[in-house]
Amino acid sequence: MTTLTWYGHATLGLETVGYKILIDPFFSGNPAAAVSAETVAADFILVTHGHGDHIGDTVAIARRTGALVISNYEIATWLGNQGVKTHGQHLGGGFKHPFGYLKLTLALHGSALPDGSYGGNPAGFLLTTNDGKKIYLAGDTGLFYDMKLIGEEGLDLAVLPIGDNFTMGPADALRAVKLLTPKTVIPIHFGTWGLIDQDPASWAAQVEKETTSKVVVLKPGESFTL
Ligand code: NI
Ligand code: MN
Repeated sequence: MTTLTWYGHATLGLETVGYKILIDPFFSGNPAAAVSAETVAADFILVTHGHGDHIGDTVAIARRTGALVISNYEIATWLGNQGVKTHGQHLGGGFKHPFGYLKLTLALHGSALPDGSYGGNPAGFLLTTNDGKKIYLAGDTGLFYDMKLIGEEGLDLAVLPIGDNFTMGPADALRAVKLLTPKTVIPIHFGTWGLIDQDPASWAAQVEKETTSKVVVLKPGESFTL
């Protein structure tokens, strides 16, 4: 069984066949976070890019739990220098981890680390779980036409930013759904601050009117089981 929990902003928890995976664990300073960095459990942590609202509490959680952090090579090296266990990959590269096959995908965004270090290129993740689910986590990105190639993999779930300003807004996220054709889509990266406020219910209605994808709008702390 595979269950995805949204902790607000772009922070996700994935439980899949016995493994606990955190994605972009931004708890401290995240006004929408439903749990704390001091107590959350993790076997693995996935980091899409170097920005503070994504790398977040990665170092503290990885040190406390011993979780393996998976990110691009530059971020993995930066974290490794801080005593964190890491596995570096890069865009287009996949690896069979204990929890499934994970591939890094293109994302149109930046990736500077909080101390100004070079964070390589930003990424999304395409995960094939051990129970056969295909999940696309877009990360922070603008719309790009190669999402059509990702959609050709046959997605059970796509998790997309809709907040606008820093990432795709609702209109481009709708176009992304049309390229990706996932069975289910979950919107994230909105509502954290006024600058990225959106109405997810009206977005969901529009997506379900114009596509065959089902939209699941979570509140921080809520989960969806695939
Ligand atoms: Ni970002
Ligand atoms: Mn962000």
